[in-house]
Amino acid sequence: MGKCVVVVGTQWGDEGKGKITNYLSKKADFVVRYQGGNNAGHTIKFNNNTYKLQLIPSGIFNKNIINILGNGMVINPKHFLMEVDNLKQLGFDCNNLFISDRAQVLFDYHITLDGVKEKKLKDGLIGTTKKGIGPAYTDKIARIGIRMTDFTSDNFYESLQKTLLFKNEELSLYDEQQIDINKFYNEYKEIAKKIKPYVIDTITLLNNEIKNNKNILFEGAQGALLDIDFGSYPFVTSSNPSGGGVCIGSGVGPTNINEVIGICKAYSTRVGSGVFPTEFENETANYIRETGHEYGTVTKRPRRIGWLDTVILNYSKMINGLTGISLMLLDVLSGIKTLKICTSYSLNGKEIHTVPANINDLEKCIPIYEELPGWTEDITKCKTFEELPQNAKNYINRIEQITSIPIVIVSVGPDETETIIRTQIF
Ligand code: GDP
Ligand code: IMO
Ligand code: MG
Repeated sequence: MGKCVVVVGTQWGDEGKGKITNYLSKKADFVVRYQGGNNAGHTIKFNNNTYKLQLIPSGIFNKNIINILGNGMVINPKHFLMEVDNLKQLGFDCNNLFISDRAQVLFDYHITLDGVKEKKLKDGLIGTTKKGIGPAYTDKIARIGIRMTDFTSDNFYESLQKTLLFKNEELSLYDEQQIDINKFYNEYKEIAKKIKPYVIDTITLLNNEIKNNKNILFEGAQGALLDIDFGSYPFVTSSNPSGGGVCIGSGVGPTNINEVIGICKAYSTRVGSGVFPTEFENETANYIRETGHEYGTVTKRPRRIGWLDTVILNYSKMINGLTGISLMLLDVLSGIKTLKICTSYSLNGKEIHTVPANINDLEKCIPIYEELPGWTEDITKCKTFEELPQNAKNYINRIEQITSIPIVIVSVGPDETETIIRTQIF
């Protein structure tokens, strides 16, 4: 029997989804991105090389794996071609890469609008990656987006006419330059020609291959707390990174999904604005930031640092339907004397174990911590759970106890070899 396994971020993104997707993909036949766009930055390290992917799924390094950009994505075609070119130069031919004909195209005007909207918000700034993600999803929902099938067929000019009617009006609201349809069309039609060979009906393909007992790995971008429905709204992205997004963004029905692996840092980080209950700023936070190289893959911004928050993790378990956790960057905590785990919040003097919907309430939540002794040993060479220092084992066991989810993978370094597998996934 083949299996459908989901890799999903449980926090605010950058948990190490790329590393684990690449690792697990070795036993998969397909790797599918189901949402987001090039706001994502996924890092993969093997054979002393580091690769950074934004649109392309993290299974691309293995010729035998088909990589799919699902219908739920917003795809900047210029960025896509650039990423493909970069990979080709590195020796990966990308012949194993396809785009859903139902995916949305992200154009330059989406990037312009992302920028001007962020500027207008001033204090309320979301701190987006300025890649045009919000405006592209807005057009999809407003039913004026352009899909890959239209972009790469004779419909393109006609679709553009309709879209630009609205887009030029919107751009004028911000005193931005109007788009000349013919100039725009001529530029993008050349790009569309280059994109066309990648565009196929991925939905039928995936569903047929599930019947053929193939292994499918779904790669989430961002994380549960950046989800448009479940995240710390409005400081979120404009898609559904969480488990439910898989079906919507790939056309694979929920009854086919077998496992959902939550990727979770051994601490917390967040890049961009918005509430972050366990955030702290001191020498230990700086130590974590420097040891974990906590700077944004896409925007290079320093990531904000916090302790592990199991209120968030349990919430993530619930909305994602997690079956296992992959605990990441545990090596970064080596050398910290006392580790803290947030087990509940105090809100207006009352202890709570849930994530309030109201952002002002979440801002008011004071984390209640449990303290655990740390360890000093370098753990990057540990190959099994048993080899870890006792205090590291205690830390892992305690997280399992609090969340009642098995920690099936422990990551002790960025390289693919620095991975402890406790339960085989495929
Ligand atoms: P993603 O967006 O979820 O794929 O994560 P990013 O690639 O943006 O950020 C994760 C960062 O942590 C990358 O620089 C990875 O190379 C690195 N990383 C992943 N796992 C580990 C680990 O176990 N230990 C250390 N030290 N770094 C890791
Ligand atoms: P990966 O896949 C971390 C954040 C931005 C901002 C908010 C909205 O690498 O984990 P957007 O550009 O999506 O409209 O920005 O979401 N954000 C991420 N943070 N990792 C990501 O992706 C992110 N993608 C978006 O910083 O706060
Ligand atoms: Mg990232």
